[in-house]
Amino acid sequence: MKNLIIIFFIGCVIFSTIQATNKGAYVGCAYDNQNCSECGTTPETQNMFTYADSCYIQDCDTIGSARNGWICYSCYAADTTVTEQYFDGTSCVADCPDGQYASPATGYTCQVANPGQVVTCAKGPQECQGCGQNGDYTNQFTYNDKDGSCIVTDCSSNAVTYLNGYVCNSCSQASGSGNIPKGQYYNHKTCVDSCPSGYKADQSTGFVCLAPPNPGVSVQCSNNSQDCNACGASSDIYDQFTYQSGQNCSIVDCHYYAAQSLNGWVCKSCALATGSDNIPQGEYYDQNAKTCVKTCPAGQQATADNYYTCQPMPIPVPCSNDSSTCKGCADNSDIQNYFNFVSGNNCIVQDCRDIQYFNGWVCNSCNLVNNDTPFQGQYYNGFGCITSCPPGSSASAATGFTCQIINPGASVACSQDSSTCGGCGQTNSIQNMFIYVKNSFCSVTDCSSNIIGSNLNGWVCNSCKSASGSGNIAAGQYFDGKNCVANCPSGKQASAATGFVCQYPPSPGAAIACSTDSPNCGGCGVTNAIQSLFTNGKGNVCSVTDCNLSVVRSNLNGWVCKSCSSASGAGNIAAGQYYDGTTCVTSCPNGYSASAATGYVCKINANPGNDVACSNDSSTCGGCGSTNIIQGFFTHGKGNNCSVTDCTATVIGSNLNGWVCKSCSSASGTGNIVAGQYYDGKTCVANCPSGQSATADTGYVCKATSNPSAGNNDSSHKSNKNLTNYILGFTTILNILF
Ligand SMILES: *[C@@H]1O[C@H](CO)[C@@H](O)[C@H](O)[C@H]1NC(C)=O
Ligand SMILES: *[C@@H]1O[C@H](CO)[C@@H](O)[C@H](O)[C@H]1NC(C)=O
Ligand SMILES: *[C@@H]1O[C@H](CO)[C@@H](O)[C@H](O)[C@H]1NC(C)=O
Ligand SMILES: *[C@@H]1O[C@H](CO)[C@@H](O)[C@H](O)[C@H]1NC(C)=O
Ligand SMILES: *[C@@H]1O[C@H](CO)[C@@H](O)[C@H](O)[C@H]1NC(C)=O
Ligand SMILES: *[C@@H]1O[C@H](CO)[C@@H](O)[C@H](O)[C@H]1NC(C)=O
Ligand SMILES: *[C@@H]1O[C@H](CO)[C@@H](O)[C@H](O)[C@H]1NC(C)=O
Ligand SMILES: *[C@@H]1O[C@H](CO)[C@@H](O)[C@H](O)[C@H]1NC(C)=O
Ligand SMILES: *[C@@H]1O[C@H](CO)[C@@H](O)[C@H](O)[C@H]1NC(C)=O
Repeated sequence: MKNLIIIFFIGCVIFSTIQATNKGAYVGCAYDNQNCSECGTTPETQNMFTYADSCYIQDCDTIGSARNGWICYSCYAADTTVTEQYFDGTSCVADCPDGQYASPATGYTCQVANPGQVVTCAKGPQECQGCGQNGDYTNQFTYNDKDGSCIVTDCSSNAVTYLNGYVCNSCSQASGSGNIPKGQYYNHKTCVDSCPSGYKADQSTGFVCLAPPNPGVSVQCSNNSQDCNACGASSDIYDQFTYQSGQNCSIVDCHYYAAQSLNGWVCKSCALATGSDNIPQGEYYDQNAKTCVKTCPAGQQATADNYYTCQPMPIPVPCSNDSSTCKGCADNSDIQNYFNFVSGNNCIVQDCRDIQYFNGWVCNSCNLVNNDTPFQGQYYNGFGCITSCPPGSSASAATGFTCQIINPGASVACSQDSSTCGGCGQTNSIQNMFIYVKNSFCSVTDCSSNIIGSNLNGWVCNSCKSASGSGNIAAGQYFDGKNCVANCPSGKQASAATGFVCQYPPSPGAAIACSTDSPNCGGCGVTNAIQSLFTNGKGNVCSVTDCNLSVVRSNLNGWVCKSCSSASGAGNIAAGQYYDGTTCVTSCPNGYSASAATGYVCKINANPGNDVACSNDSSTCGGCGSTNIIQGFFTHGKGNNCSVTDCTATVIGSNLNGWVCKSCSSASGTGNIVAGQYYDGKTCVANCPSGQSATADTGYVCKATSNPSAGNNDSSHKSNKNLTNYILGFTTILNILF
């Protein structure tokens, strides 16, 4: 039965030229275009094959005693022990045993053929050409040139791959086992003996089960009022139409097996067809999905203009600069007029097929419609649309999608995690201006002002301070809050520590003795917030680190007021050494007083002293003591009168002088300093020691009574007083003169 030995040279089998390395021929046993797992039943045989588009044996000398049809066929022409091409189950053989055949479909393994019966499908000059739509089908048949009949060569299921009515009919009574399903009709899935209800199959339908046609509706695709040839690009599409009248054509049969070649007109005609088993309903044709759809994929649209085929649309681009027109999309009206305003700042090119002048916005809007544009790509290079900008340049919405030279900035140390530029700004927009370099360094990718826009901060300024090229942001390494500047405004400073933002420097307060637990300044306030405002100095001395209002905020007490009362710089808390419960004040309200003893908090007066004439300027009590502490005990009254605000011993402590003694000598209340109107150098005394005296002139300090005449102790008092008067008078004259 040599005539059954059919060798099929089908496309998937490629023969290599025989090489001296004993490389085998390519054979068609690749699995799913991936590997050679179909070339053998065991891993050992599979691994003899190498996959390179199809499978072959790398070296036929290494196959040992392994044999199967693929091995025989790959190696028979190589210079090896294998010399025959078919496998008979044991060895490679030149011819299969009688009654058997081998082919690519049988894996070159000899198998018993189960031939079909004669079917009448031969037509045309070529053998069995009418038995199927192409060689895949017709090659399954053997032509008998004596009577012109066709039969399926082998109805085994491994030999028949493509089913149709003729195949089913030929094989419906084939003997042997392992055949395709028996059944004389093809129901579009398999071979069956009877068609679904309402369907008919016979010689006239090619033994395919067919229902009465489900015609489509009229669509206006005839352009000559004669035929439907304009309804499709090729005959397999337009032959499905029948001409009606005018421009109208309609699909003859919308059944999925009848209308297999689709385009938009087919979809449109069949979208309203009645009956079942039609092509998918939907009046538009989706070229990617290759099916009819009810709505086009996002970004695509279909109209009669494009044969109801879904095609990419122009996309909106943000080029309106006035939220009502598209004048921002170009500086000339030719291009502006291509656009229609959409909403917000979006405009869209109306028709990308009708463009003569280009810019970046046009390229971007028409990018997806590039089949119809003379230039393709979303960016503009000054001449046309391109898909990517030349090296060293870039384009984005910020550049109007026009490629522009990149002006990169220098590296600055703003990466806090040594891997991203998240530390270079507080907003994503600023962070995205940077590209990570290495270690803690990032640099601004492009210092062009249309890229940076308003995304400025000190790091951007610092990186871009000496960027080359034109069109950059203002040069200047510091950020003044609005622009990059070379120097900060007067009084402000910037450094890496401030992120190169100009700021007023910290405004430290004066040292005060408020710490009870050096070095923590814990005595300077009862809250952590206040304590942490202080920096510890030596011993129990602390000072407010920065008296700036935005630092101190409402964390006030007397120590803070006192420390900050003389701080320099702008933006500090209110100046005033006392805390009145709300703010810092230069003097306590009437009836209140403050001192170190009250923590510089104004407290209601306890044991006030009497008026004493120690003010030397009629407005302060500066003349009442030589130290600030003593002066601070006094409250100014009228004229040159001052009085000790609180004569309590725990307030005054050892800070005594004559004015204090005098004022407190008749103070009411308890717990006061020792009563006595004169100060003897140690304490207040009612009478000065013998030989000493005190008056307003001595500041109520006991002083030795001395006589300018030697030996005249008795007159010394008078002489001394006259001398004092003289001095006072002289001082008055001096005051008048100057
Ligand atoms: C061949 O490829 C398939 C699919 O990837 C895989 O499942 C199979 O294991 C592969 N066989 C061999 C021998 O690599
Ligand atoms: C009609 O359509 C066909 C196919 O698209 C085309 O070749 C022909 O020129 C058209 N004729 C007219 C009159 O538009
Ligand atoms: C063409 O078909 C449309 C819609 O089916 C119909 O309205 C119109 O009358 C038809 N025209 C002609 C000339 O038959
Ligand atoms: C919008 O852009 C156009 C073209 O550049 C310009 O002439 C016009 O003044 C701009 N309008 C506004 C409001 O910025
Ligand atoms: C106070 O300090 C803050 C923070 O450093 C700063 O922004 C502000 O400008 C300062 N105020 C003044 C007036 O210096
Ligand atoms: C008042 O007395 C104080 C302390 O002795 C002194 O520093 C100050 O200059 C005097 N002022 C006047 C106006 O005499
Ligand atoms: C100063 O105090 C004394 C004693 O209290 C008093 O007599 C005198 O009137 C006061 N001077 C003024 C200007 O009030
Ligand atoms: C003056 O009196 C003092 C104290 O009474 C005494 O110490 C001193 O010696 C006397 N001087 C003369 C010169 O008598
Ligand atoms: C003080 O000196 C004045 C003149 O300088 C004189 O008139 C007066 O009597 C003297 N007083 C006494 C107590 O010495």
